[in-house]
Amino acid sequence: DHTHADTLRTPIVAVLGHVDHGKTSLLDTIRGSAVSEGEAGAITQHIGATDIPLDTISGMAGELIDPSDFDLPGLLFIDTPGHHSFSTLRARGGALADIAVLVVDVNDGFQPQTEEAIDILRRTGTPFVVAANKVDTTPGWNPQDGEPIQRSMDAQSERAKSMLDENLYEIIGQLSDAGFSADLYWRVQDFQKNIGVVPLSALTGEGVPDLLTVLMGLSQRFMKEEMAIDVTGPGEGTVLEVKDERGFGATVDTVVYDGVIRNGDTVVVGGQDEPIVTEIRALLRPRPLAEIRTEKEFEKVGEVAAAAGVKIAAPDLDQAMAGAPVRVVRDRTVDQVVEEVKAELAEIEVETADNGVVVKADTLGSLEAMANALREAEVPILRAEVGDIAPRDIAVAETANQDEHKAILGFNVDLLQNAESDLENADVKLFKNEVIYQLVEDYERYVEEKQR
Ligand code: GTP
Ligand code: MG
Repeated sequence: DHTHADTLRTPIVAVLGHVDHGKTSLLDTIRGSAVSEGEAGAITQHIGATDIPLDTISGMAGELIDPSDFDLPGLLFIDTPGHHSFSTLRARGGALADIAVLVVDVNDGFQPQTEEAIDILRRTGTPFVVAANKVDTTPGWNPQDGEPIQRSMDAQSERAKSMLDENLYEIIGQLSDAGFSADLYWRVQDFQKNIGVVPLSALTGEGVPDLLTVLMGLSQRFMKEEMAIDVTGPGEGTVLEVKDERGFGATVDTVVYDGVIRNGDTVVVGGQDEPIVTEIRALLRPRPLAEIRTEKEFEKVGEVAAAAGVKIAAPDLDQAMAGAPVRVVRDRTVDQVVEEVKAELAEIEVETADNGVVVKADTLGSLEAMANALREAEVPILRAEVGDIAPRDIAVAETANQDEHKAILGFNVDLLQNAESDLENADVKLFKNEVIYQLVEDYERYVEEKQR
C-alpha cells in the first residue's frame, strides 16, 4: 500500500557508541560527506541530524533493496557524541529515537560507552542493530569498496575471515552478557527477538548496504504502526543548538519528532528564565543529506512534518536552551502549552544549595551531566545555568560564603567579553574545560591545594 507515503513519519535513527568507534564516519559514508574531519579533535560535541531520503538509501543498498517494497520517506539519522561526559545528551538521543544503530569497533569490542548506550537502549526499549565497524582493519583484509558484506567476505583469505569471525563472536558474546540474544544479521529470522550484527567498514563502505537494508526492514516492519501516527497535529521537537544566523538573529536547530511545524505558527520554546512564546518568521531546512550542525545553505519552506531537522527563525530566541522542548500552540491556548513546557523543564531542573559553586554549560543535557558529576564529587551548586559566562555569574560567585566556592565551572562555554574585566577584579576563580570529569578534577585539585 503506497498511498500512505506522504503521511508516514520518517523514522528517527540514533547512532550510538563508544568514542572513536566510527559513528560520524558511518554517517559520512552514508551521506557522502566528511563531517568527522572538520570536527575539533575529531570528537562530536553536539547531537546532529541528517535526513537521508529513500532513493539515496536504495541507491546505496543496490540489489539488496527494492525501493517499491518501502513506503517510508527515508530515515532521519541522529549523530551523538560518544564521550562519556555526554551521557545525558545520549539518553535524549536514545529516547528520541525509534530505532538505533550501536556502533562497535570490531577490534575493541564493548567499551564503557557501549555499555552505557546498551543501558539507554534497554531502558527506553528502543529496537537496535549492531554495526560491527572497521572490518577493514582485520590483518590481511582485501577491501571491497561499497560492496554487500557477503561479497566482501567471499574475497577474503581463510585467515582474515576467521580472525574477523573471532571478533564478531566476541561481540555477540558481549551482547549476550548484556542480556540480548544476538547473531550475525543474515542468520536472524526475527529482529524483534534477536539483535542483528552487521559487519561493516565506514571507511570502505563494505557492509553499509546491508546496514541500510536491515534498518529499512526494521523501520518498515515494526515501526509502521507508530510511523503512521497522525503527523498533521501541532509540531513537537527538541532544540539541538541555538545559533546566530546572519539576517535572522538567534535561531534554533530543532529535531521535530512529532506533528507539523508551519511558518507563522506560534511556538513555545524552553528558555533560560521562562518559556519563550514567539511566532515563526522562517523555517529553514538543510538540504537532504546535509548535517544540520555544519550546513550553511538552507531552503525556506512553508512547513515540515516529523521527523525532520529544521532551523527555526523567530524573534526572542536568544534565550532558548539547547535540549529544551519546542511546542507548536495551534488550536490550544498559549497558557496550556507554556505549562506543558514548564512541566517538562522541571523534570530536568538541577538541585541547588544556599552555598556552592556557579556552573555554566552549553546545553540542558550537559548541565544535567555536570550536576550529576558534581553531586558524585560532593560539590554543592549555588547556581546552574545554560549559556556563556556573563558579568552576573561573577557577581553571584562572589557572594559565596566560603572562599573555595567562589568559583565558576564552565563546560563548553565562553567568557563573554563584557565579563572579562569583572573577572579580573573579582575574587573568583574560573575553570573551563570541554571534558566534564576533567573540569571536576581541576576544581577538586584547586580545593585540595587551597586547604593545604
Ligand atoms: P565521537 O564522535 O568522538 O564519539 O567519535 P565517532 O564514533 O564519531 O568516531 P569517528 O567517526 O570520528 O571516527 C574515529 C576514527 O576512526 C577516525 O579517525 C576515523 O577515520 C576512524 N574510522 C572510523 N571508521 C573506520 C573504519 O571503518 N575503518 C577504519 N580503518 N577507520 C575508521
Ligand atoms: Mg562523532
